[in-house]
Amino acid sequence: MEIYHIVWYYDAMNTNKHYLMCMPTWFAISYEINPWMKMNNPADASLAHKQWDLLYSTITGSGAKVSLINPEDGLPDMVFTANAGLVKDNIVILSRFMHMERQGEAKYYEKWFSGHGYHCHLIPDGSAFEGAGDAVFYKDQILLGYGFRTEINSHKYAGEVMGMGYTSLELINNHFYHLDTCLQYIDDVNLIIYYPDAFSPDSRRKIEGLPSDILRLSKEDAFLFACNSICINRNVLLYKSSDVLADELKKYEIKIVSLDISEFMKSGGSVRCMVLDL
Ligand code: ARG
Repeated sequence: MEIYHIVWYYDAMNTNKHYLMCMPTWFAISYEINPWMKMNNPADASLAHKQWDLLYSTITGSGAKVSLINPEDGLPDMVFTANAGLVKDNIVILSRFMHMERQGEAKYYEKWFSGHGYHCHLIPDGSAFEGAGDAVFYKDQILLGYGFRTEINSHKYAGEVMGMGYTSLELINNHFYHLDTCLQYIDDVNLIIYYPDAFSPDSRRKIEGLPSDILRLSKEDAFLFACNSICINRNVLLYKSSDVLADELKKYEIKIVSLDISEFMKSGGSVRCMVLDL
């Protein structure tokens, strides 16, 4: 494995972040359920393993804790644990996947969460809900996406179970099929980063009205999934971004740590998709 040195902005051990991850043992482009996935553009399995290892060691090296769920043969997208469910404290709303290709994952997530002491909930009316992929915690409410993977009917229930208010945001651009591909909230500095073109005009207005600083992504950064990132102690871990974005973030004393996860981009996922906040 490559040796990779990162100079952290703040004390590396000073974080209570805890993530769920899944090794990419069975990761592949075996079907096409979003426009990024092309079966004639396969992922390089050994490179994907190296890239995942680098992400894992960067996260654990930051002082954050990582728990692992076993990968299962035949479920190549299990590596994207953001879609396992939505977690707050010891409550989880388990995902109900829109596409048949991913539905087999659900029972393994249920087993993991119930085995680890979580209270498991399911959206009762059968509507699709893809977990943290379509949910961003924002102050005392949840921003919830719909339009491709999660159905709007699930939002009311998600809010009730978490005991929080929510704002429904409509996604209209199929390259940004999950909310976490086009919107992020960095609570350390009260900053929303989002890609306006991914949202309906009405939802864009809702976002612009939120009481935070707002950074609008260029098309270039949006297609690099620059806001599909995680922020640990003001270090933003992401695939790639423009210098313009790096300069903007510098003003907030946020540093970009760029990690090559090219093989996962072929599946329509980046750093944020590969972790679930526990
Ligand atoms: N190939 C996966 C899918 O289409 C990628 C999931 C990305 N996850 C996310 N949270 N955005 O479902």
